[in-house]
Amino acid sequence: MNTSNMNAAPRALEGRVALVTGGARGIGRAIGLHLADLGAAVGVLDLKKELAEEAVAELASKGQKGMAFGGNVAERDTLMDATAALKKAFGRFDILVSNAMWVRYGPIAELTPEMVRRMVGTGFESVIWGIQAAEAHMGEGGSVINIASAAAFLGLPRGLTYAGVKAGVLGLTRAAAVDLGPRGIRVNAICPGFTATEGVMVNVTPEMVQKRLARTPMNRVGVPEDVARVAGFLASDASGFVSGEYIKVDGGATFAHL
Ligand SMILES: NC(=O)c1ccc[n+]([C@@H]2O[C@H](COP(=O)([O-])OP(=O)(O)OC[C@H]3O[C@@H](n4cnc5c(N)ncnc54)[C@H](O)[C@@H]3O)[C@@H](O)[C@H]2O)c1
Repeated sequence: MNTSNMNAAPRALEGRVALVTGGARGIGRAIGLHLADLGAAVGVLDLKKELAEEAVAELASKGQKGMAFGGNVAERDTLMDATAALKKAFGRFDILVSNAMWVRYGPIAELTPEMVRRMVGTGFESVIWGIQAAEAHMGEGGSVINIASAAAFLGLPRGLTYAGVKAGVLGLTRAAAVDLGPRGIRVNAICPGFTATEGVMVNVTPEMVQKRLARTPMNRVGVPEDVARVAGFLASDASGFVSGEYIKVDGGATFAHL
């Protein structure tokens, strides 16, 4: 994936240390590559360690620094241990991107406790544990970026739990920004619209893609690099007085009345 020409401020993250959850593929992988292009050492955390190792190998092949972690973000220790390990290895910890998610859409009647718990654990509780780990291991200053979704604003068909989880992530973002602001730690969210990733494309038909395009003023589907560029901005000092905020990356779709 070529992300080298994606940001106007080259090396904006030189010397900083980041962790990206769900960083083995999709949006998380693009974010990790981009933060590394900007100079950060990047921890890649994913359910399967071997997949995280592949992502870190891609960084290493470009002479960039990374560290792979396997683990479930729904468990508090996963985030706490990974951020502690990064701090030990690189001497500091500056940027957390809480991106991992597991999602199933479906009729309300077919929701099971297991599905709901997994979605809430992966997409909501993990953000809390991430914020706790950031508070514990960041110094004076840092950036937490929570990947929410345009679904936070939409009456999403068959997406009851997902929409609720992502709306909740925006609430966590605002509250954490207040608590961590005095430490110079900024907390923001990104709300991607429809973005072509492995995780999404297996669940959609060509007709669904056409429907999305018809509702997107910019008339294209998002790509992971669209989100990665905004993560680079929120991670860097260019957004140094931005906190408790969200940025939609959706080609204008979510609030368009098409
Ligand atoms: N793709 C889209 O259209 C879209 C739109 C809006 C928001 N988002 C959000 O962007 C983020 C990334 O989405 P994506 O499309 O790249 O997803 P994806 O399914 O392609 O990748 C998600 C990654 O998270 C990992 N993961 C899942 N559960 C985990 C767990 N419990 N612990 C650790 N890792 C885990 C997976 O192994 C995978 O590598 C998610 O938060 C998603 O909700 C995506």
